[in-house]
Amino acid sequence: MKQLVASLLAPGLDAASATPLNEQLAQLLRQTVLKGQIGPGTRLPSSRDLATRLSISRNTVLAAYDQLIAEGYLETRHGAGTFVAADLPDSYMEISPTPAPAPAALPRAPGLRRPLAGMPALDQFPTALWARLSGSVWRRAGPEHLQHNDPAGYLPLRAAISQYLGAARGVVSEPEQILIVSGLQPGLKLLAESIVPKDHAIVLEDPGYPGLRHAVEPLPHPLEFTGVDTDGAVVPPAGIRAPGLMVVSPSRQYPLGQTMPLRRRLEILDWARRTDALVLEDDYDSEFRYAGRPVSSLQGLDGGRHVIYGGSFSKSLYLALRLGYLVLPAHLAERVVRYRSATDSFPAIAPQMLLTRFIEEGHFARHLRHLRNIHRRRLALFQAAARAHLARYFSFDETDAGLHVVAHRHDTVPLADTMLAALAHRAGVGAVPLSASYCTITPQQGLLVGFANMADDEIDNRLKSLGHAIAQETGF
Ligand SMILES: Cc1ncc(COP(=O)(O)O)c(C=O)c1O
Repeated sequence: MKQLVASLLAPGLDAASATPLNEQLAQLLRQTVLKGQIGPGTRLPSSRDLATRLSISRNTVLAAYDQLIAEGYLETRHGAGTFVAADLPDSYMEISPTPAPAPAALPRAPGLRRPLAGMPALDQFPTALWARLSGSVWRRAGPEHLQHNDPAGYLPLRAAISQYLGAARGVVSEPEQILIVSGLQPGLKLLAESIVPKDHAIVLEDPGYPGLRHAVEPLPHPLEFTGVDTDGAVVPPAGIRAPGLMVVSPSRQYPLGQTMPLRRRLEILDWARRTDALVLEDDYDSEFRYAGRPVSSLQGLDGGRHVIYGGSFSKSLYLALRLGYLVLPAHLAERVVRYRSATDSFPAIAPQMLLTRFIEEGHFARHLRHLRNIHRRRLALFQAAARAHLARYFSFDETDAGLHVVAHRHDTVPLADTMLAALAHRAGVGAVPLSASYCTITPQQGLLVGFANMADDEIDNRLKSLGHAIAQETGF
C-alpha cells in the first residue's frame, strides 16, 4: 500500500511549479481519495516514509496531512498513524472529478444578449437612493425578517400597492386580495395551476405578448386565441367549449397599442359573466401615458368579481427586480395563496421591504413623474429621428403611451423582421420582431422599437446607424 500511495502521488508533483509542494501534495491526495483510489479507512504511509519515497521533506508531507485532517478527508488514530477517514460522507465520493463546464460554455439568458424593446429609462433609476434605503432596511430588520413570511407577500407592501392602485388605476381592493408575484409570467402560471380546471381553456390575444403564451404552453390546459381589432381584443369566439381564463391588455394592447373603449370592455365583462370565465387584466405599462388621462382599469369596472388585475414593477422600476402583483377576487384569494404556499413558500422578503419603503416615502410616485417627462422627450426625439432615417423602410404608428413604437415594415423591404431586429440590436436599438407576437393568424412584419432606454443624445445616431445597416443589407 505504501508503494501504491507513493506511485499514485509521485507523477503529479512538480518541484518547478509556483504552487508550494505541500499544497500540491494535499491536492493530489484529495483527488486520490475522491476518485476512490484509496478507500476509506486505508492507512497512509508515515510522513517520514512518504517523504523518502517522494524525495521531498517530511515537513511538506506533515503540512499536507494536517491540511487534509482539518478538511475531514484524513484522520489520525493515536499511536497507529494517519488514515483516510472511515466515514467520508457519500456526497464526497459523488463529486465528479470532471470539471464543471466553464461559464462561457453555458447558455446565456436572452436579456444578456440584446437590448430589449420595452424598457424604461434605466439610466434614470435612482441607484444611490435605492442603496441607501437598502442599508436602512437591513439596519432595522429583526429576527422576524429572517424567517418565514406571508405566502401572499409582505403585508405592508400589499397595503401600499392596494392604496396606489386605488388612486392611480381605479382598482378596487383590500390588501388581503393582493398577491406578490415575481412577475406576470409566473403570476399567470400560478393562476392557471391553482384556479383554472385543467380542461378549461386559457384564452390569449392574437397578436399578444409571447411571454405570457410561453408561461402557459407547458400546462395541460387547452389554449385558445381571440383576435384583435381597432378596439383591442375582441370577445372570444362562441366555439370555445369551456373558457377558464382570458388574458387581455385593455389599457394598451400588446403589441399594437390600442386602448380598449368602454363599450368593448363591457362586452368582455358580459362574456365573462355569461361563461363564468375569469379575465386577467394585463396592465403591464399603464404608468406611462404622455398625453391625456389614463383610462381606468377593467377590474374597477367589474368590481373585482371576474377580473384579476395584474401589474408589474418590471417597467415602472426595473425588470431584474422580479416583483409584480395580482389583485385577486376576494372569493379566490385563499385558494391561490394556499397553492403558492405549498409550491413556492413565500417571496423573498428583503426586496419587498425595500420596495415598500420606496413607495411609502413617495419615491415611487416621484420616479414615475420623472420618467414620464424623460420618456415624453425621448419619444419626440425618437419620432423625429425615425422620420429622418427610417421612413424608407417602415411606417411608424402614432403613439402617446408605453415604451415601444410599432414600426410596420414596408412590403418593398426584402428582409424578415427577425433580421431587422438583429440589425437593430447591432445598432444599439432595443427591438423585437412584430411577427413573434402572432400565433394563429398570418404574422405582420415589423418591429416593436423601444424609445425610452436610449439617452437623448444617442437616439439620432443609433437610428441613423440602423438606417445605414438596412441600406447596406438591402441595397436601397
Ligand atoms: C405585455 C406584457 N405583459 C406583461 C409583462 C411583464 O412581464 P413580467 O412581469 O413577468 O416581467 C410584459 C413585460 O415585458 C409585457 O410586455
